[in-house]
Amino acid sequence: MKIELLPFQKHGDERGMLVALEQIKNVPFEIKRVYYMFGTKDNVRRGFHAHKALRQLAIAVRGSCYFHLDDGVDKEEVLLNDPAQGLLIEPAIWHEMYNYSDDCILLVLASDVYDESDYIRNYEAFQESVRDESAQAE
Ligand code: TYD
Repeated sequence: MKIELLPFQKHGDERGMLVALEQIKNVPFEIKRVYYMFGTKDNVRRGFHAHKALRQLAIAVRGSCYFHLDDGVDKEEVLLNDPAQGLLIEPAIWHEMYNYSDDCILLVLASDVYDESDYIRNYEAFQESVRDESAQAE
C-alpha cells in the first residue's frame, strides 16, 4: 500500500511557525469540509469505515495519534505527530484511529460534505467492494 504523507512548508520565524493549506495547491483536492477531533478519551478507537469517493487529508495539528490503514490486501500503521505533515486517505481505504495523546487535535480536510451514503461501515462489505473493484479491473 502506498502511504502518502504530504510534507507542508513551514513558515517559521522568530515568532514561531505557520503552515498554510490551500486546495489544489498543497491539498490535492477541493476542500468542501473541515472537521476535527479533540478530547478523545483513553483507549478509544474510532473510524472503522472506508469511503466510496471521499478524499481526506488528516493532520495532527497538536499531539499525536495512530492510523490503521487497510486497502483490503495490505495493512499499515502510521503515526501522525507532526503539524507540518498530512496523511492522505483515499477512497476504498479502511481506516481506524487509535492511541490519541490526551492533547491530540486531529484535523481532517475532506473533498465533500458529510454524506452517510458514501460510508462503508461494515468490514466484510468493504472487503467485498475491494474484490469487486479488482475483478472489474482484470
Ligand atoms: P463518526 O462517523 O462516528 O466518526 P468516526 O467514524 O470518525 O469515528 O462521527 C461522529 C458523529 O459526528 C456522527 O454522529 C456523525 C457526525 N459527523 C458529522 O455530522 N459531520 C461530519 O463531517 C463527521 C465526520 C461526523
